[in-house]
Amino acid sequence: MKKSILILGLAAFFFVSCGETKKEEVKKEVEAPVEAPAEGKIKTSDDYLALGKELFTSKTCVTCHQPDAKVIGPSIKDINKIYTEKGGNIVAFLKGESPAIVDTDPGQVAIMKANLDGFVKNLTSEELAALAVYMSSVK
Ligand code: HEC
Repeated sequence: MKKSILILGLAAFFFVSCGETKKEEVKKEVEAPVEAPAEGKIKTSDDYLALGKELFTSKTCVTCHQPDAKVIGPSIKDINKIYTEKGGNIVAFLKGESPAIVDTDPGQVAIMKANLDGFVKNLTSEELAALAVYMSSVK
């Protein structure tokens, strides 16, 4: 008798804990879109700037690109300088449509390319534009 109560108790425990993980999964799905707003939701240049700034941190760009100092990648200011001088297009670079013009050392290009092939390709055009707006705003 005692044994069956224990088994019942255990079954109830597993049942409850399974239910909880499911709830958490659902919660995560609901929370996700907050980080990546749907296409067309941002309209003004301020929206792009805010989104770009947020993405630059959340998508780890900031780990390799500081505003002033070279860390692993060139500083944002150095990137801006060369893109302005050479009339480059940051969005085209991020889409893999134009080659590197800031640091053309093959080892360095490979580091950035790993990002482009890894997660940058999953960003929407709007998110890429926002990143470019934010980067260009760093003066
Ligand atoms: C692991 C480090 C790392 C991360 C993370 C990273 N980058 Fe880079 N990035 C580099 C390196 C190294 C270079 C220099 C090579 C080059 O210029 O392509 C570079 C170059 C660039 C350039 C200049 C490309 C050119 O024309 O030469 C841009 C623009 C850029 N990164 C944007 C970004 C953005 C936006 C993100 C986040 C989505 C990002 N990077 C994340 C390392 C990184």
